[in-house]
Amino acid sequence: MNVIPSPIHLLDRARSTFDMPTIGRAIYGGTPRGGTRPQDFDVNPQTAFFPPKPLPHLPAEFSIWEEALANAPDAVRLSENQSPAALAKRADSERWRAGVRSWPLLKVDSLRADLRQLQRAHMVLAFILHYYAHSYPTSSEDELIIIPRSLAIPLAEVSKDLGFAPVLTFTDTVLWNWKFINPDEPLTVDNMEYTNLLSGIDTEANFYKASAAVELKGAEMLQVIEAFGNLADPMDQNSQAKILRDLVRLKTTVEELTETFRSIRSKVDPHSFYWLVRPWWVGAKTLSNGQPNWVFEGVPNYTSFDLDGPSAGQSAVMHALDIFLDVDHKLVHHRTPAPSEANKKADRGFMERMRRYMTAAHRDYLTRIGSVPRTVRQVAEATPSLREPYNAVVSSLKQLRDVHMQIATLYIITQRRTAPPASAGIVVVEQAAEGSPIGTGGNEVASLLKAGRDATRRTLLPDL
Ligand code: HEM
Repeated sequence: MNVIPSPIHLLDRARSTFDMPTIGRAIYGGTPRGGTRPQDFDVNPQTAFFPPKPLPHLPAEFSIWEEALANAPDAVRLSENQSPAALAKRADSERWRAGVRSWPLLKVDSLRADLRQLQRAHMVLAFILHYYAHSYPTSSEDELIIIPRSLAIPLAEVSKDLGFAPVLTFTDTVLWNWKFINPDEPLTVDNMEYTNLLSGIDTEANFYKASAAVELKGAEMLQVIEAFGNLADPMDQNSQAKILRDLVRLKTTVEELTETFRSIRSKVDPHSFYWLVRPWWVGAKTLSNGQPNWVFEGVPNYTSFDLDGPSAGQSAVMHALDIFLDVDHKLVHHRTPAPSEANKKADRGFMERMRRYMTAAHRDYLTRIGSVPRTVRQVAEATPSLREPYNAVVSSLKQLRDVHMQIATLYIITQRRTAPPASAGIVVVEQAAEGSPIGTGGNEVASLLKAGRDATRRTLLPDL
């Protein structure tokens, strides 16, 4: 009998947070990148955090990894799925996992010559990790799942090279998991096809596409952020005229993002999102002894890894916007209105922790845009003509977070009260009712998102 996995996988593994430049580096190593251009941080002026063209496959010596990924959708089903169709696949699933266990341990050195190869290797192995762990039948909630060394070691190594978590991330699923429909045309959402879908259903592809639409807007936002960072003196008259124009432009971009969020409802089905897609994304569980239930065989320090699953909270675009506007998620500044008790109790380290699921290059880029001598908020505070345009951008971001909260309510909090579809093959046990981790999870999602929305509201400059 299976219990539905907690939808709040991200929140029950809170760990200590680091200062921004060292986030993740303490675990994954690497030296901070320097540079003056977005390209120095694997950020493209036209496609933002997307690579302009992802690598279609790894070199031939890694074909066993590519083949396992290509075969997984047909062979593998969620272990909790006890529908007749899924049970009929059990033997195929086990054969597929046995194949992974039988791989030789491949050396990743040759991948280091090309960043795109490392990225593709992370994506391929992280998808395989989730297929492996979530198809593995367990007899109790606390049972350890051994991730075989043939998978665990190369995944840990490429993750270390890229400086981020050895698990499926937003970056793997959204930024690196697509191909051009028409390679001669520019990168747009309509010209992208998502190639790997854990659940194999359109709902998953449509969620990735909705996220991609947000990411692509990032390129426009980064132009504004870059231009501000490049001003010699943001207080001179010409600079201020430029900042004014850019703030007006940014407000429009954020409003367009909000429209993208609103359009999610017509493209992504909430019921199948919750029951058929989300379970695949769940990361490792934390056991009562504080250790993850996924054991990375042959990787000595795996217990310090970040092993939550992908969340759009890992979108570097959204972080860039928060950093540029100086949204204080950690509640370190005294701003009005004072945070509510619920705000204070919410997970203040969430956004910072999510940065450990971005590559070191993207994390360093965020550090760079946060390292301006004066933030745009400080400039607007000191410049009467910029206060209103600055506040207008902040208000539009607050509105975006209101819409996002409605989406989360519909897709998670409401859906957990619905019956799973027959194809999910899930037996709901009694303890999954009120008071269980699922019930708490819903409340925690709501208070986390409200805290983010309220932190955005507190970013508004008060009237003079
Ligand atoms: C069906 C669509 C979506 C649902 C159901 C949803 C749900 C959630 C939930 C439950 C959280 C809380 C943390 C977690 O459990 O991961 C979250 C956080 C977050 N999500 Fe979404 N989300 C959706 C779409 C998006 C998209 C398209 C983006 C942007 C690319 C996005 C950006 C964020 C951000 C930045 C956070 C961190 C909290 C905040 O900034 O307010 N979400 N989302």
